[in-house]
Amino acid sequence: MKNTKKVLLATLAAGSMLALAACSGGSGGSGDGGGDGGLIGVAMPTKSSERWIQDGDAVKSQLEDQGFTVDLQYAEDDIPTQVSQIENMITKGAEALIIASIDGTTLSQVLQDAADADIPVIAYDRLIRDSENVDYYASFDNFVVGQQQAWSVLNGLGLTELDGTPIDGAPAGPFNIELFAGSPDDNNATFFWNGAMDVLQPLMDDGTLVVKSGQTEFEQAATLRWDGEVAQSRMEDILTANYSDGSKVNAVLSPYDGLSRGIISALTDAGYTVGAEWPIISGQDAELDSVKAINSGEQYATIFKDTRNLAKVAVDMASAILNGEKPEVNNTTDYDNGVKVVPSYLLESQIVVKDNIQEVLVDSGYWTDAEING
Ligand code: BGC
Repeated sequence: MKNTKKVLLATLAAGSMLALAACSGGSGGSGDGGGDGGLIGVAMPTKSSERWIQDGDAVKSQLEDQGFTVDLQYAEDDIPTQVSQIENMITKGAEALIIASIDGTTLSQVLQDAADADIPVIAYDRLIRDSENVDYYASFDNFVVGQQQAWSVLNGLGLTELDGTPIDGAPAGPFNIELFAGSPDDNNATFFWNGAMDVLQPLMDDGTLVVKSGQTEFEQAATLRWDGEVAQSRMEDILTANYSDGSKVNAVLSPYDGLSRGIISALTDAGYTVGAEWPIISGQDAELDSVKAINSGEQYATIFKDTRNLAKVAVDMASAILNGEKPEVNNTTDYDNGVKVVPSYLLESQIVVKDNIQEVLVDSGYWTDAEING
């Protein structure tokens, strides 16, 4: 049985292009249950960010609906904890692993153990790097997420529509912007940054956007572990060093709502007030506090990545593999993990601004009106 699964997996990975050609619509395998009570290990990075709680809950309930039992673990952003949680899942006889890694480069040994036990591995949202033992990747188009973050900033400044189309008669600027990136050990952070820079760099080159701090490199902008307090203190330093002459920062590229909240605190502490030269600030994840901040004008936009749909892709992938079917993928070129290109299914994200909160977040049932306005 185990050997059969291994051969099948090798065949499936090799045949992902065929799977792509063969499937249309939908977002995964058959989804017709058949879990037979088998155990699936689900490793999530942290409960300190709301989105991962939503992800964990959605993956667990959808797996249970398909007849699996679930071992869902959170590692509070501690790498050794995540490694030992995954080891435990293997020891307990997990039939498949769904992993949202903390540091995408630190799981090679534990994934070798999984491979030795013929356990398929699905990288969830964040690509797991430096290992051949990653079978599939479920995520969003992370380069586009970065572009959307940049477009949302430009939209707030009156320069473009939300899809990046230039607006006739837009102000010439220049606008002062400061740039934040995510955690350097998270593969997504580079994708978000590259997508955003694809949009912003030409405007930095022609002088429309000015980064007064001069911190324009990913390494300078990166925020280890996506920590909001780190972003807050970096923003405080930037304001002190570059804006004490009375000049104002007009926009901040932030790749995650938790960083945006830290940046907002730094701005407030420095005397900025909403409604009076308050900067345009981006975000990601549509976390509840940040949706409220968009409503109150503190944050301009966020990027909504529907965790329910991502969970469905990952669950359908696991279910398909375990039922001897081919998971559907829609990208077999972009996600090279350093050892191989991991067959991926990428979902689309949406920009949320004040005007479409109702349509995108409430009408879809992601947040209720009472949660946002209550
Ligand atoms: C996810 C983002 C999230 C960030 C911080 C990234 O890997 O793709 O949605 O904002 O981690 O948790």
